[in-house]
Amino acid sequence: MKNILVLNGSPRTNGNTRKLSEAFITRCIQRGYDVKKYNISDMNILECNDCRRCFEEDNPCVLEDDFNTIAADLVKADVIIFSLPVYFYSIPGKFKMFLDRLICFQEGNKNLSDKLYGIICCCEDKEMTTFDGVRVPLERMARDFRWILLDEILAPGMERTNDIENTDGIRRAKELADKIS
Ligand SMILES: Cc1cc2nc3c(=O)[nH]c(=O)nc-3n(C[C@H](O)[C@H](O)[C@H](O)COP(=O)(O)O)c2cc1C
Repeated sequence: MKNILVLNGSPRTNGNTRKLSEAFITRCIQRGYDVKKYNISDMNILECNDCRRCFEEDNPCVLEDDFNTIAADLVKADVIIFSLPVYFYSIPGKFKMFLDRLICFQEGNKNLSDKLYGIICCCEDKEMTTFDGVRVPLERMARDFRWILLDEILAPGMERTNDIENTDGIRRAKELADKIS
């Protein structure tokens, strides 16, 4: 069975990003995949303090928050979906704090490679280059970790919480699940 890990980075519970990731999750469940989802904004995530004590106490990180729980599912995942909005041309702050914590896998020489990953991303601009501040760092992290891109679902022009319903985004999010084999 495929293990799918969805990491949501939008704090808006009824927002466009979560609507896309829920459509993706629904299709994954229909296909018989095992799905785990974390809403990073609801979790206790501290910032990496560069202590370099990664894996010192068996856990990936010595900080006491929710990171190690997510990290355990990250290790198990066959597919990771990063689902987040663009905030000031970049990755929302708390989600970036979570991503920074992944340094423990590099620092501890732990294998996290050969996973598939996908990006679901919404922004208000209609200009597609606005996604670069999210896409590019994730793509470079993926290169470092040797993850393989499944696809990117980029939804521009999203302002009100239901704007996604007037686009083909939901269909594309379901198709993202269909690309997993
Ligand atoms: C703090 C903040 C910063 C934002 N910065 C940008 C931005 O730089 N470019 C943009 O196109 N949209 C920006 N937006 C708009 C969101 O990306 C957009 O509304 C997105 O659809 C929100 O996702 P959600 O509906 O899942 O909450 C910003 C929104 C917030 C709250």
